[in-house]
Amino acid sequence: MVAWLERKPTPSSPPSSVRIPAFGSPESEYLAPGLGSIADILQLKLPEQKPEVADGDLAAWLLSEFSATSPEIGTLPDVAVRLLEMENKPDTGPAEMAELIAIDPALTIAVLRVANTVVNRATNRVTSVKEAVARLGIRQVSRIGSALAMKTLFESRNALHADDRAMAIELFIHSTTTALASSALALSMPTGKVRAEQAFLGGLLHDVGMAIGLRVLASTLGTKSARPEMTQDELYALLEEVHVEIGAAAHSAWNLPESASKVCAEHHIRDAPASEHSQVVHIVRLCSALHLLRTRPMTIARFAEVDESARFLKLGRVQLQALDTEVRRFTSLATELAS
Ligand SMILES: [Fe+2]
Repeated sequence: MVAWLERKPTPSSPPSSVRIPAFGSPESEYLAPGLGSIADILQLKLPEQKPEVADGDLAAWLLSEFSATSPEIGTLPDVAVRLLEMENKPDTGPAEMAELIAIDPALTIAVLRVANTVVNRATNRVTSVKEAVARLGIRQVSRIGSALAMKTLFESRNALHADDRAMAIELFIHSTTTALASSALALSMPTGKVRAEQAFLGGLLHDVGMAIGLRVLASTLGTKSARPEMTQDELYALLEEVHVEIGAAAHSAWNLPESASKVCAEHHIRDAPASEHSQVVHIVRLCSALHLLRTRPMTIARFAEVDESARFLKLGRVQLQALDTEVRRFTSLATELAS
């Protein structure tokens, strides 16, 4: 079990980057949305086309290949877990965090590169991780560092061909965007409900089954000629079909906290009975669906996920619009992390 999630929450104030109006503020007045008004709030059109449906035989075959090649689950990067643990320690200083990141030179370079894209370009460049922590704060550096460290989960030992590589990058950007937005939404909610690090980890790993499914596909059908012809939408539909089952197996193998495993298992279940972890499940589902509405072909099911989770979380119109804007802002940061 990852130990930091077992600890009591430490009081924290939202960083200045969080722009979602606080719950209880005048802008948070709840307007019960429906599918039509969700589309209106987000300035999107409800789709008319039917979504891509996965090939059932191919999905069954992929699941059986996954069972036979379970090493493809991989290991959870230790540095990512330790960075997130450190974030929750009140006595963590910039030097301690910099020391941990310095263990991995590639991670150090990546953190510095990203830090220099998110700090004010008018000021001096960030040249050390310690300085990055001082400028961006422990929370942001730990999130950036852990997301970067988790990138290995989206890579394959087998060379991915171009279509799969593009999909792996897309999945990483989606997971990172969802994690950052979920964490920001959790921070904007009344204290004591969902801790930001729970929402972050849940978001980062909610769709990890898709990345693992892609690796299984690459390792079993490595060559383009061995693969059935698939468009990117068909490939996405296939991975979506198998991702919850594969993700649940990975969460169990990694012995992740119950909240993250619940997010993975339940983020597509409609009208699930309320449980201790419902709030974090809805936070992640909402952020994930908002990102997918902007990046994948829109489906009615996705709008329905936004509708149900926005209702559950009692988000107002302005809050939902602000969250949508945050999701797009975090997409830019996640894209930077992916490059
Ligand atoms: Fe999903």
